[in-house]
Amino acid sequence: MAIWNLGSINIDMVYALPHMPQPGETLAATSFEQGLGGKGANMSVAAARAGAHACHIGAIGSEGKWCVDRLTEYGVDTRRIAQIDTATGHAIIAVDPAGENQIILYPGANRVLSEDQIGQALSAANAGDILLIQNETNMQAEAAEMGRKLGLRVAYAAAPFDADAVQAVLPFMDLLFLNEVEAAQLEEATGKAPQDLDVQDVIVTLGAKGARHFDGRSGDVTDIPALKVTPVDTTGAGDTFTGYVLAALDRGLPMAQAMAQASRAGALMVTRHGAADVIPDLKEVQNAKF
Ligand code: RIB
Repeated sequence: MAIWNLGSINIDMVYALPHMPQPGETLAATSFEQGLGGKGANMSVAAARAGAHACHIGAIGSEGKWCVDRLTEYGVDTRRIAQIDTATGHAIIAVDPAGENQIILYPGANRVLSEDQIGQALSAANAGDILLIQNETNMQAEAAEMGRKLGLRVAYAAAPFDADAVQAVLPFMDLLFLNEVEAAQLEEATGKAPQDLDVQDVIVTLGAKGARHFDGRSGDVTDIPALKVTPVDTTGAGDTFTGYVLAALDRGLPMAQAMAQASRAGALMVTRHGAADVIPDLKEVQNAKF
Protein backbone atom coordinates (compact mmCIF):
# COMPACT_ATOMS: atom_id res chain seq x y z
CA MET A 1 0.00 0.00 0.00
CA ALA A 2 1.07 3.61 -0.32
CA ILE A 3 0.46 7.00 1.24
CA TRP A 4 -0.24 9.74 -1.33
CA ASN A 5 0.47 13.05 0.28
CA LEU A 6 -0.82 16.23 -1.33
CA GLY A 7 1.43 18.45 0.72
CA SER A 8 3.41 21.63 1.11
CA ILE A 9 7.16 21.84 0.70
CA ASN A 10 8.75 24.79 2.50
CA ILE A 11 12.20 26.16 2.99
CA ASP A 12 12.24 26.68 6.76
CA MET A 13 14.25 29.62 8.06
CA VAL A 14 14.56 29.06 11.77
CA TYR A 15 15.56 31.81 14.22
CA ALA A 16 16.28 31.05 17.88
CA LEU A 17 15.07 34.01 19.95
CA PRO A 18 15.45 34.96 23.62
CA HIS A 19 11.66 35.47 23.69
CA MET A 20 8.84 35.94 21.19
CA PRO A 21 8.88 39.48 19.76
CA GLN A 22 6.23 41.94 20.92
CA PRO A 23 4.41 44.14 18.35
CA GLY A 24 6.87 46.84 17.22
CA GLU A 25 9.88 45.15 18.85
CA THR A 26 13.16 44.54 16.99
CA LEU A 27 14.92 41.47 18.29
CA ALA A 28 18.24 39.83 17.41
CA ALA A 29 18.23 36.05 16.92
CA THR A 30 20.83 34.00 18.77
CA SER A 31 21.10 31.52 15.88
CA PHE A 32 19.80 30.89 12.38
CA GLU A 33 19.38 27.68 10.41
CA GLN A 34 17.78 26.80 7.11
CA GLY A 35 16.25 23.39 6.52
CA LEU A 36 13.53 21.39 4.82
CA GLY A 37 10.02 21.83 6.15
CA GLY A 38 6.40 22.33 5.27
CA LYS A 39 3.71 20.33 7.04
CA GLY A 40 3.32 18.18 3.94
CA ALA A 41 7.02 17.46 3.48
CA ASN A 42 7.41 16.73 7.19
CA MET A 43 4.54 14.21 7.05
CA SER A 44 5.94 12.54 3.94
CA VAL A 45 9.35 12.20 5.55
CA ALA A 46 7.82 10.86 8.77
CA ALA A 47 5.76 8.28 6.84
CA ALA A 48 8.81 7.22 4.80
CA ARG A 49 11.02 7.08 7.93
CA ALA A 50 8.34 4.88 9.50
CA GLY A 51 8.61 2.45 6.61
CA ALA A 52 5.73 3.50 4.34
CA HIS A 53 5.85 4.12 0.61
CA ALA A 54 5.20 7.87 0.75
CA CYS A 55 4.45 9.51 -2.62
CA HIS A 56 4.54 13.27 -2.31
CA ILE A 57 2.33 15.39 -4.60
CA GLY A 58 3.45 19.01 -4.57
CA ALA A 59 5.33 21.80 -6.28
CA ILE A 60 8.49 23.85 -5.92
CA GLY A 61 10.18 26.67 -7.80
CA SER A 62 13.60 26.28 -9.39
CA GLU A 63 15.45 27.43 -6.25
CA GLY A 64 13.80 24.61 -4.30
CA LYS A 65 15.33 21.70 -6.20
CA TRP A 66 17.45 20.86 -3.18
CA CYS A 67 14.22 20.24 -1.21
CA VAL A 68 13.24 17.51 -3.66
CA ASP A 69 16.73 15.98 -3.51
CA ARG A 70 16.50 15.93 0.24
CA LEU A 71 13.04 14.34 0.23
CA THR A 72 14.38 11.64 -2.10
CA GLU A 73 17.34 11.12 0.22
CA TYR A 74 14.91 10.62 3.12
CA GLY A 75 13.06 7.88 1.22
CA VAL A 76 10.10 9.82 -0.20
CA ASP A 77 8.87 9.07 -3.72
CA THR A 78 9.26 12.51 -5.35
CA ARG A 79 8.16 11.67 -8.91
CA ARG A 80 4.93 13.66 -8.55
CA ILE A 81 6.54 16.90 -7.42
CA ALA A 82 6.33 19.51 -10.18
CA GLN A 83 8.89 22.23 -10.75
CA ILE A 84 6.96 25.37 -11.70
CA ASP A 85 7.55 29.01 -12.39
CA THR A 86 6.61 30.22 -8.89
CA ALA A 87 8.83 30.60 -5.84
CA THR A 88 9.09 27.65 -3.48
CA GLY A 89 7.05 28.10 -0.30
CA HIS A 90 8.94 29.21 2.76
CA ALA A 91 8.42 29.57 6.48
CA ILE A 92 10.00 32.03 8.91
CA ILE A 93 10.06 30.24 12.23
CA ALA A 94 10.81 31.86 15.57
CA VAL A 95 11.65 29.46 18.41
CA ASP A 96 11.80 30.61 22.03
CA PRO A 97 13.86 29.00 24.83
CA ALA A 98 10.90 26.83 25.91
CA GLY A 99 10.74 25.32 22.43
CA GLU A 100 7.51 27.08 21.45
CA ASN A 101 7.33 28.51 17.95
CA GLN A 102 5.65 31.17 15.84
CA ILE A 103 5.51 30.64 12.08
CA ILE A 104 5.02 33.04 9.17
CA LEU A 105 4.18 31.19 5.95
CA TYR A 106 4.72 32.23 2.39
CA PRO A 107 2.75 29.61 0.39
CA GLY A 108 4.36 30.21 -3.04
CA ALA A 109 4.28 27.12 -5.27
CA ASN A 110 2.28 25.15 -2.67
CA ARG A 111 -0.87 27.06 -3.60
CA VAL A 112 -0.69 26.82 -7.40
CA LEU A 113 -1.06 23.08 -7.91
CA SER A 114 -3.28 22.05 -10.80
CA GLU A 115 -6.15 19.58 -10.76
CA ASP A 116 -4.46 17.80 -13.68
CA GLN A 117 -1.29 17.22 -11.70
CA ILE A 118 -3.26 15.71 -8.83
CA GLY A 119 -5.43 13.62 -11.15
CA GLN A 120 -2.39 12.25 -12.94
CA ALA A 121 -0.67 11.41 -9.67
CA LEU A 122 -3.71 9.69 -8.18
CA SER A 123 -4.32 7.68 -11.33
CA ALA A 124 -1.38 5.56 -10.14
CA ALA A 125 -2.96 4.97 -6.71
CA ASN A 126 -4.67 1.73 -5.71
CA ALA A 127 -7.93 1.36 -3.81
CA GLY A 128 -7.11 1.12 -0.11
CA ASP A 129 -4.11 3.45 -0.35
CA ILE A 130 -4.17 6.50 1.90
CA LEU A 131 -4.53 10.04 0.57
CA LEU A 132 -3.21 12.60 3.05
CA ILE A 133 -4.01 16.32 2.81
CA GLN A 134 -3.19 19.32 5.03
CA ASN A 135 -4.14 22.98 4.81
CA GLU A 136 -0.99 24.35 3.14
CA THR A 137 -1.85 23.61 -0.50
CA ASN A 138 -4.70 24.48 -2.82
CA MET A 139 -6.93 21.77 -4.36
CA GLN A 140 -7.74 20.11 -1.05
CA ALA A 141 -11.43 19.39 -1.57
CA GLU A 142 -10.92 18.47 -5.24
CA ALA A 143 -8.21 15.97 -4.29
CA ALA A 144 -10.30 14.56 -1.43
CA GLU A 145 -13.27 14.03 -3.74
CA MET A 146 -11.02 12.30 -6.30
CA GLY A 147 -9.53 10.16 -3.54
CA ARG A 148 -12.94 9.10 -2.28
CA LYS A 149 -14.08 8.17 -5.82
CA LEU A 150 -10.91 6.08 -6.30
CA GLY A 151 -11.51 4.16 -3.08
CA LEU A 152 -8.63 5.75 -1.18
CA ARG A 153 -8.76 6.32 2.56
CA VAL A 154 -8.78 10.11 2.87
CA ALA A 155 -6.88 11.56 5.85
CA TYR A 156 -6.86 15.27 6.69
CA ALA A 157 -4.54 17.07 9.08
CA ALA A 158 -6.36 20.31 9.91
CA ALA A 159 -3.28 22.50 10.18
CA PRO A 160 -2.85 25.39 9.85
CA PHE A 161 -6.45 25.47 11.08
CA ASP A 162 -9.19 27.02 8.99
CA ALA A 163 -12.73 25.88 9.76
CA ASP A 164 -13.89 26.48 6.16
CA ALA A 165 -11.03 24.41 4.74
CA VAL A 166 -11.84 21.47 7.05
CA GLN A 167 -15.53 21.65 6.25
CA ALA A 168 -14.86 21.59 2.50
CA VAL A 169 -13.03 18.26 2.88
CA LEU A 170 -15.27 16.81 5.61
CA PRO A 171 -17.73 14.99 3.26
CA PHE A 172 -14.85 12.92 1.80
CA MET A 173 -12.87 12.30 4.97
CA ASP A 174 -12.12 8.98 6.66
CA LEU A 175 -9.52 10.19 9.18
CA LEU A 176 -9.12 13.58 10.81
CA PHE A 177 -6.17 14.88 12.84
CA LEU A 178 -6.67 17.96 15.03
CA ASN A 179 -5.22 19.42 18.17
CA GLU A 180 -7.36 20.34 21.18
CA VAL A 181 -7.73 24.00 20.23
CA GLU A 182 -8.60 23.13 16.64
CA ALA A 183 -11.17 20.57 17.82
CA ALA A 184 -12.86 23.26 19.91
CA GLN A 185 -12.80 25.71 16.98
CA LEU A 186 -14.28 23.10 14.65
CA GLU A 187 -17.00 22.32 17.20
CA GLU A 188 -17.83 26.02 17.36
CA ALA A 189 -18.02 26.23 13.55
CA THR A 190 -20.00 23.02 12.95
CA GLY A 191 -21.86 22.61 16.23
CA LYS A 192 -20.49 19.06 16.32
CA ALA A 193 -18.11 17.41 18.75
CA PRO A 194 -15.36 15.17 17.23
CA GLN A 195 -17.41 11.99 17.78
CA ASP A 196 -20.39 13.49 15.89
CA LEU A 197 -18.54 14.56 12.74
CA ASP A 198 -19.41 11.39 10.82
CA VAL A 199 -15.70 10.71 10.23
CA GLN A 200 -14.52 7.12 10.81
CA ASP A 201 -11.47 8.04 12.88
CA VAL A 202 -10.83 11.36 14.59
CA ILE A 203 -7.56 11.86 16.46
CA VAL A 204 -7.20 14.84 18.76
CA THR A 205 -3.71 15.56 20.05
CA LEU A 206 -3.66 16.93 23.58
CA GLY A 207 -0.04 18.11 23.95
CA ALA A 208 1.43 17.04 27.29
CA LYS A 209 -1.75 15.01 27.95
CA GLY A 210 -1.22 12.70 24.97
CA ALA A 211 -3.77 12.01 22.24
CA ARG A 212 -7.37 10.80 22.01
CA HIS A 213 -8.98 8.59 19.36
CA PHE A 214 -12.67 8.77 18.60
CA ASP A 215 -13.82 5.66 16.76
CA GLY A 216 -16.74 6.72 14.58
CA ARG A 217 -17.94 3.14 14.06
CA SER A 218 -18.03 1.85 17.62
CA GLY A 219 -18.22 5.18 19.44
CA ASP A 220 -15.20 4.12 21.55
CA VAL A 221 -12.85 6.78 22.85
CA THR A 222 -9.24 5.74 23.56
CA ASP A 223 -6.57 7.85 25.25
CA ILE A 224 -2.89 7.40 24.52
CA PRO A 225 -0.71 8.96 27.21
CA ALA A 226 2.12 11.35 26.32
CA LEU A 227 5.76 10.58 27.07
CA LYS A 228 7.68 12.90 29.35
CA VAL A 229 10.42 14.85 27.55
CA THR A 230 11.97 18.29 27.83
CA PRO A 231 11.11 20.16 24.62
CA VAL A 232 13.69 22.27 22.81
CA ASP A 233 11.68 22.81 19.60
CA THR A 234 8.12 21.68 18.92
CA THR A 235 8.31 22.39 15.15
CA GLY A 236 7.22 19.39 13.10
CA ALA A 237 6.32 17.21 16.10
CA GLY A 238 2.62 17.10 15.18
CA ASP A 239 3.50 16.39 11.54
CA THR A 240 5.76 13.54 12.65
CA PHE A 241 2.93 12.12 14.77
CA THR A 242 0.54 12.21 11.80
CA GLY A 243 3.01 10.62 9.37
CA TYR A 244 3.82 7.88 11.86
CA VAL A 245 0.16 7.09 12.64
CA LEU A 246 -0.65 6.73 8.95
CA ALA A 247 2.42 4.64 8.18
CA ALA A 248 1.52 2.27 10.99
CA LEU A 249 -2.13 2.02 9.85
CA ASP A 250 -0.89 1.39 6.33
CA ARG A 251 1.15 -1.53 7.71
CA GLY A 252 -2.04 -2.89 9.30
CA LEU A 253 -1.36 -1.97 12.93
CA PRO A 254 -4.41 -1.33 15.13
CA MET A 255 -5.09 2.34 15.91
CA ALA A 256 -3.96 2.26 19.56
CA GLN A 257 -0.61 0.73 18.58
CA ALA A 258 -0.20 3.17 15.67
CA MET A 259 -0.83 6.12 17.99
CA ALA A 260 1.51 4.81 20.69
CA GLN A 261 4.32 4.45 18.15
CA ALA A 262 3.56 7.91 16.74
CA SER A 263 3.65 9.41 20.25
CA ARG A 264 7.17 8.07 20.70
CA ALA A 265 8.21 9.59 17.37
CA GLY A 266 6.60 12.95 18.27
CA ALA A 267 8.24 12.92 21.71
CA LEU A 268 11.67 12.33 20.17
CA MET A 269 11.03 15.13 17.68
CA VAL A 270 10.49 17.82 20.33
CA THR A 271 13.95 17.07 21.74
CA ARG A 272 15.50 18.06 18.38
CA HIS A 273 15.93 21.36 16.56
CA GLY A 274 14.49 21.47 13.03
CA ALA A 275 11.74 19.80 11.02
CA ALA A 276 11.99 17.26 8.17
CA ASP A 277 15.77 16.94 8.51
CA VAL A 278 15.61 15.52 12.04
CA ILE A 279 12.60 13.19 11.92
CA PRO A 280 13.59 9.89 13.55
CA ASP A 281 13.38 6.56 11.76
CA LEU A 282 11.44 3.57 13.06
CA LYS A 283 14.50 1.94 14.64
CA GLU A 284 15.32 5.09 16.62
CA VAL A 285 11.68 5.36 17.68
CA GLN A 286 11.55 1.74 18.82
CA ASN A 287 14.89 1.94 20.68
CA ALA A 288 14.31 5.31 22.32
CA LYS A 289 14.30 5.32 26.14
CA PHE A 290 11.86 7.72 27.76
O1 RIB B 1 4.51 22.10 11.27
C1 RIB B 1 5.75 22.68 11.07
C2 RIB B 1 5.86 23.26 9.70
O2 RIB B 1 4.92 24.31 9.57
C3 RIB B 1 7.18 23.88 9.37
O3 RIB B 1 8.11 22.97 8.85
C4 RIB B 1 6.81 25.03 8.45
O4 RIB B 1 7.31 24.92 7.15
C5 RIB B 1 5.29 25.12 8.48
O5 RIB B 1 4.71 24.58 7.36
